[in-house]
Amino acid sequence: MEFDQHVPFFRAFGQQLVDWAQVGSGHHVLDVGVGRGANLFPAAARVGPSGRVVGIDAAAGMITGTTHAIRAEGLTHAQVALMDAACLDFPDCTFDRVLSGFTLHMLPDPTTTLSEIYRVLNPGGIVALSLPGPHPDRRWDRYGELIGQYVADVDRARWPDWPAHDWSQLLEEAGFTHGDMVNRAVEIPLESPESFWRGEMAHGMRGFIEALPPASRAAFQDDVLGWLRNMEPLTLSRGAWFYKAEKLLA
Ligand SMILES: C[S@@+](CC[C@H](N)C(=O)[O-])C[C@H]1O[C@@H](n2cnc3c(N)ncnc32)[C@H](O)[C@@H]1O
Repeated sequence: MEFDQHVPFFRAFGQQLVDWAQVGSGHHVLDVGVGRGANLFPAAARVGPSGRVVGIDAAAGMITGTTHAIRAEGLTHAQVALMDAACLDFPDCTFDRVLSGFTLHMLPDPTTTLSEIYRVLNPGGIVALSLPGPHPDRRWDRYGELIGQYVADVDRARWPDWPAHDWSQLLEEAGFTHGDMVNRAVEIPLESPESFWRGEMAHGMRGFIEALPPASRAAFQDDVLGWLRNMEPLTLSRGAWFYKAEKLLA
């Protein structure tokens, strides 16, 4: 599937998030907004057959693709389900860890989802989130500038202006304690400018690109490819904020 083939940075961050969340052998883990399993597969490897990993996603295509991938890997302790992050269909105190990669910032109501995550976590359990953050390679500032040049053309009905949140505060308001955060980054060699563009068209950025009128969309693509053709060495730099917090032992 496109998402998996062209968006390698999600899996790199997924492995880091599993480490950051201290996922351990035998843990029961929930992954909210599982996508193509960037967190789910590293978590399944970490918990082993005595543990269990469940991924949920609101997009049927993600669930179908990830179900196939789980079967292809022969994993019996990982599964996925179609579900809205705002209404987790699990009993209270079901999981030792809840992960969510690059998803909560896209939700209209992350507060409800954080309350749901708190409810389904066991006392002593940990929630760990990854969210877009600053990248270390300053050459990639140019991408932000290009997006900034075109953002005024975007059809806001198709690409909402996501509000900024204070995630530490939202976690605290949901009941979590011992919050911690860190800035993480990945650097990935790019095969070509076109492979970067295919990657952007296989994840959330596609929404931004398709919300541009056709003429702006073509001009944006030309500008991005032209800029990357002059980049040497051609590497992708992505940054993330990782947050984690605990549900206190009762
Ligand atoms: C940017 S992708 C990240 C996927 C994966 N966590 C990763 O790191 O590669 C965000 C995912 O959140 C899912 N999503 C968006 N809104 C959702 C909702 N309300 N409930 C559950 N999943 C949702 C999308 O379908 C998509 O798979």
